[in-house]
Amino acid sequence: MGGHSDLRRRRPAIVVALLVLGVGGCGGGRAGSFAAQATSGESHYRESCAGCHQATGGIGPVLSRRVLASYGSAAGLFTYLRTTMPYGAPRTLEEDAYWAIVAFLVDSLGGGVPPRALDAGNAAQVLLTLDGS
Ligand code: HEC
Repeated sequence: MGGHSDLRRRRPAIVVALLVLGVGGCGGGRAGSFAAQATSGESHYRESCAGCHQATGGIGPVLSRRVLASYGSAAGLFTYLRTTMPYGAPRTLEEDAYWAIVAFLVDSLGGGVPPRALDAGNAAQVLLTLDGS
């Protein structure tokens, strides 16, 4: 993880590759919309993360596109966040809140929009990659 040192460089365009197949069939039922999940994630982020991760830096590093892409997929980002963030207090948010924050961050990358809310069943297929790298 990382890339802290080159944050001043031009930010490359990011491609959020959406390979979310028509996953499902299994009566999951709770497939809400990705947009609603991301909106909820934004308020969780403001409450639990933004204090340290400001746009210009802070106690925590700036969460640039490059940093987010380094986690590979929405599933990778979720695992990292849940086991390490908020810094010093991992696993203190509800699981749904972590998913919502991941959705907000994925949405902020500006790629396409997954057809349904992220969860453990589809997040590995939502890839976060930097174009041309
Ligand atoms: C108390 C301050 C603090 C809070 C609150 C906090 N973070 Fe962090 N965050 C940090 C610090 C410090 C690091 C660097 C940790 C390291 O390098 O080991 C970090 C690292 C990260 C990284 C990895 C960055 C990279 O370069 O790979 C991500 C992603 C992240 N935080 C997201 C979040 C999210 C999402 C939340 C809210 C759930 C959050 N953080 C809450 C301080 C904080």
